[in-house]
Amino acid sequence: MKISNYIQLLLIAGSFIYSTASIASSPGKALYASYCAQCHKDNGGGIKAAGFPSLRDSKMVKTDRAATYNIIAKGSPKNPVMGSYEWVGPRALNDITDYVVTVIAKAGLNSDGTKMSAKQLAESDRKSALAQKRRDAKRKAENKQKRQSYFNSIKKSNDPWFIVQMAEKAEELGFKRVAIFGYKKVVNNHFLTDGARNRALINLRKLGIKMNIR
Ligand code: HEC
Repeated sequence: MKISNYIQLLLIAGSFIYSTASIASSPGKALYASYCAQCHKDNGGGIKAAGFPSLRDSKMVKTDRAATYNIIAKGSPKNPVMGSYEWVGPRALNDITDYVVTVIAKAGLNSDGTKMSAKQLAESDRKSALAQKRRDAKRKAENKQKRQSYFNSIKKSNDPWFIVQMAEKAEELGFKRVAIFGYKKVVNNHFLTDGARNRALINLRKLGIKMNIR
């Protein structure tokens, strides 16, 4: 075999491995878990009682990528509960759509392509609910850890601009009490510079807290 053919073969084999691996662990999977799974569930089963349709049984998902992309991007014209996800941007929209039409579309099938029995589906739904619960718990724990680390670095520091910046980041992430702690620390410390104190005061006022520089 010519060297160039050999290289070409390697490239083809490589891209095949890459493409299968990239769907299974695709960014679409994580995006789906964040934005869609609370209604449509990890395995696409949906929640019938709540009116969230199954995606793994959806004709649209199985047969029409463009329509699937469109309803994800624009939302449903019939039901505002299925909102628009245009704000995630075209790249993420394509990743989500790929994941839905390739992985979720087959979620109710056995590996040989036959439909799962009701019992198998129930077992798969149970596993998916468990996975979701674990994921929520993990996210909560990570959040707590993050909040704690912001609190600690604000507490340890005597650098006013650093504290204000950390507090602003904490506020952005929704850690309001940590942010207020940081702003107050800056306002209450005479040895800290005025610029940072003013910024902290303004931030506190935005949060509805009035303080005076002593
Ligand atoms: C708050 C619940 C909720 C969330 C979150 C949600 N959906 Fe939906 N989705 C719905 C509802 C309700 C419908 C039915 C809309 C209708 O009747 O027109 C729907 C319909 C759909 C459909 C059309 C199915 C069909 O066969 O008609 C697709 C595809 C879909 N959603 C994908 C997604 C994706 C992908 C995400 C995440 C980016 C998502 N949805 C997030 C509730 C939700």
